[in-house]
Amino acid sequence: MPQIELKNIRKEFSKSIVAVNDLSLTIEEGEFLVLVGPSGCGKTTTLRMIAGFEDPTRGEIFIDKEVINELEPAERNLGMVFQTHALFPHKTVAENIAFGPRMKKVEKTEIDKQIKQVAEMVKITHLLDKLPAQCSGGESQRVAVARTLITDPGAFLLDEPLSSLDAKLRREMRAEVDRLHKELKKTFIYVTHDQEEAMTLADRIVVMDGGNIRQVGSPIDIYNNPNSYFVADFFGSPSMNLIEGDIVTKGKKVVFNSSDIKLDLPKSLAKTPPGPATLGIRPEQILVNNKSGTKKKIYLVEPLGKDTLLYFETQTGNELIAVVDSNTKFKAGDTPGITFPDDQIFLFDKNGNRVSTK
Ligand SMILES: Nc1ncnc2c1ncn2[C@@H]1O[C@H](COP(=O)(O)OP(=O)(O)O)[C@@H](O)[C@H]1O
Ligand SMILES: [Mg+2]
Repeated sequence: MPQIELKNIRKEFSKSIVAVNDLSLTIEEGEFLVLVGPSGCGKTTTLRMIAGFEDPTRGEIFIDKEVINELEPAERNLGMVFQTHALFPHKTVAENIAFGPRMKKVEKTEIDKQIKQVAEMVKITHLLDKLPAQCSGGESQRVAVARTLITDPGAFLLDEPLSSLDAKLRREMRAEVDRLHKELKKTFIYVTHDQEEAMTLADRIVVMDGGNIRQVGSPIDIYNNPNSYFVADFFGSPSMNLIEGDIVTKGKKVVFNSSDIKLDLPKSLAKTPPGPATLGIRPEQILVNNKSGTKKKIYLVEPLGKDTLLYFETQTGNELIAVVDSNTKFKAGDTPGITFPDDQIFLFDKNGNRVSTK
């Protein structure tokens, strides 16, 4: 099980296309690391450089402290699973899985034994004699995983392996990926644009944007302590309420001022310099009641089963949503009071950086 390290990695496809800017990252042995970010932020390119399908323009890649930039993909002992599973259409599932070891001239009886093993691991024993066309999307993806498993790589690199599946199947397969990681105890580097997938699978999340790393941390850390507007906005569903306004001083008080809400900032944020700022609060942290707080009119009530979303009218055009218990009495047209607890407020400056609470 290798430790993988990237040092000042850059990839330019041309003068104007910089896919990865200057990326440094150490992936620990056995870790489940997720690279997440919007489409085009450089996730696939990063993974392909680790796998050896793409040469970095600059920087070094280490496996177990040795530079491996010059090694061919096959020499790196890494297994890659792609978004679309390029299976050979005229070969059976078993023959597809056997492809790697056959290339390496492994003995037939040994290959048969290994096929049985990996097929059991990903629960496709009943499919071994079928053709890829006879398999569903989820089944094909299991075959693709089995084909990588049989090569017994030191680490697994997975590029959006579940994104072509529907929501329910994606959740099921997500649990399978998790189980597989726990069973194999190997390093997994997993690419996705789906924040929920990142949250549920990762030991550690790397948030990317425009070829750069924005934040690295555990899922809970990223959720509770986003370092920027970008990260705050990216994680959570419904996402964090973000209200534009200004920081102003009134006598001894420091106030967040917007046409939607005016708040005396708590001590922890009292050093915020005056000027434009964005206030953030997670929908589940807003308190809604009839007794106190800023009066806001509800224009939509959306029951989700377990909880209910209340949508409030705003002046700024910013969305303002609260998550409340599903047996809420509030209905569209009501004007309850809303309160933002001091310790649940986030502030971002005009550059989108988190205002420090220290
Ligand atoms: N082979 C290529 N040639 C030119 N540009 C590319 C190539 N591959 C990726 N890019 C560009 O590099 C950027 C990052 O792409 P990619 O790594 O695929 O992002 P992601 O996987 O996060 O969606 C994008 O702007 C993309 O258009
Ligand atoms: Mg990609």
